[in-house]
Amino acid sequence: MQSLEDRHALVTGGATGIGLAITKSLVAAGARVTVASRNSERVTAVAAELENVNGVTLDVTNPKDISAVFEQSEPVDILVNNAGIAFAVPFEEMSLEQWSAVMAVNLTGVFLCTQAVLASMRDRDQGRIINIASTAGLKGAPYISAYAASKHGLIGMTRSLALELATTGITANCVCPGFTDTDMVADAITNITSKTGRSEAEALAELVKHNPQRRLVTPEEVADTVLWLCQDSSRSITGQSIVIAGGDIT
Ligand code: NAI
Repeated sequence: MQSLEDRHALVTGGATGIGLAITKSLVAAGARVTVASRNSERVTAVAAELENVNGVTLDVTNPKDISAVFEQSEPVDILVNNAGIAFAVPFEEMSLEQWSAVMAVNLTGVFLCTQAVLASMRDRDQGRIINIASTAGLKGAPYISAYAASKHGLIGMTRSLALELATTGITANCVCPGFTDTDMVADAITNITSKTGRSEAEALAELVKHNPQRRLVTPEEVADTVLWLCQDSSRSITGQSIVIAGGDIT
């Protein structure tokens, strides 16, 4: 893998789960990484623990926060839009507040952060926009209609943006993991056990049955794909939705 020594990456939600694995793999490849997340305690802990990591508190739904963070930050070469939220609720019971909260983080947050980096990427004619979508951006599933809509929207936005940027040195792609071993899945398992009375093992089996390999994806597997997209040799890959899900969605 090419060294990313001269690159500055910003990872939203980069202090936990998939984002933390991406942060670690970018640092291992030589990049300087800014972890930007609303969980300031975790951000501070990760910045203290890892070399070449700077932590900033950022709520991706807040345009003022975004302006402040990106105006103060050194130019971003690699933007990883990873921050996301999910919850399960039947469509007919979903409130407008719940719907809007998911859209604000998973879709509008990506729009705002991406707009904040594009002018400087265009000036330098280089950049990587990598959006962590989901297999739920390519297929539906019961009880996650807001989440699936936000991730389908993210994929559509990325496809269009990639075409607008096609004659520049900037690429825009989505990475689409299936169920991955993070707090988000731990929360989903707790939700299933409390609502259905099933055991944790049964709840986990319910989730992994979507993956033909019958296992959870690891955060490191997602991070490896992000790292690959950062290579100069990946410059022809743009507008894609790369599925990491053991053969789901073929
Ligand atoms: P996670 O819950 O560990 O990570 C989400 C991160 O986003 C957290 O660090 C949280 O503080 C941050 N965040 C949430 N709202 C924010 C906001 N308004 N502003 C800034 N930061 C905010 O969960 P995980 O699994 O690591 O999720 C990362 C991404 O991967 C999400 O976009 C998720 O939708 C996606 N994903 C996760 C899958 C899974 O099974 N775990 C599968 C497919 C996609």
